[in-house]
Amino acid sequence: MVPTMGALHDGHLSLVRMAGKPTVVVSIFVNPSQFAPHEDFDAYPRDLDSDLNKLGSTGANIIVFAPNAREMYPEGFATSITVGGGSAGLETDFRPHFFAGVATVVAKLLLAALPDTAIFGQKDYQQLLVVTRLAADLGLPTKIIGAPIAREVDGLAMSSRNAYLSASERTVAGNLNKVLKDTIARARETGDLRDAEKYGAAALETVGFDKVDYVAIRDAANLSVATGVSGPARILAAAKIGKTRLIDNMAF
Ligand code: PAF
Repeated sequence: MVPTMGALHDGHLSLVRMAGKPTVVVSIFVNPSQFAPHEDFDAYPRDLDSDLNKLGSTGANIIVFAPNAREMYPEGFATSITVGGGSAGLETDFRPHFFAGVATVVAKLLLAALPDTAIFGQKDYQQLLVVTRLAADLGLPTKIIGAPIAREVDGLAMSSRNAYLSASERTVAGNLNKVLKDTIARARETGDLRDAEKYGAAALETVGFDKVDYVAIRDAANLSVATGVSGPARILAAAKIGKTRLIDNMAF
């Protein structure tokens, strides 16, 4: 299964291709419960016909599940799943509602399709850890796999929200991945991870981001604060250009 919110791009299609030969259930559902009232639920791009054409072009054996909100959240729906551990901090500092919305809908989607495997992009790295925890804790019969981030030519991580960017904002956005690479280099040079995080945040402002939510170097397995550079770590960032909030991350 490849769960999506539609507005499919090559990143999503790479997840479908990664699934290979077996039948792939692709869900397309813009999940209201993972958006706060002030966020972009209404503006989120929706184009089912175009999504279906793109999925058709993969040549994969696909079942599309595109429920409406009433099917997913019938009258009286009152359940919300909270996942602890890696869901604390980073995204939750800025989007406190987000992971309960994601965990609840992903549990429903996985239970509806009962896939043997579900693939999630590593662009939403914290989400991938939350979903992995969710599937393990609820004993869902689904193996969760993280797929590499698909990137544009200048390294910008593919995202449906990139469509919001004006031409000049798009140029600024292309620097996010470069700043992360520079920040990793700085951390390796100095060994001071907190200094490197500050350096990265300042660099994002210098290249034109309007607001930096975080640049953080964390333990890759559980997102606890990384203290050294010897084990597998992950650098993660979220920043806004105008109204558009972008996230990215890299192995470190
Ligand atoms: O990553 C997404 O597109 C969404 O958060 C997901 C996993 C489909 C849940 O709505």
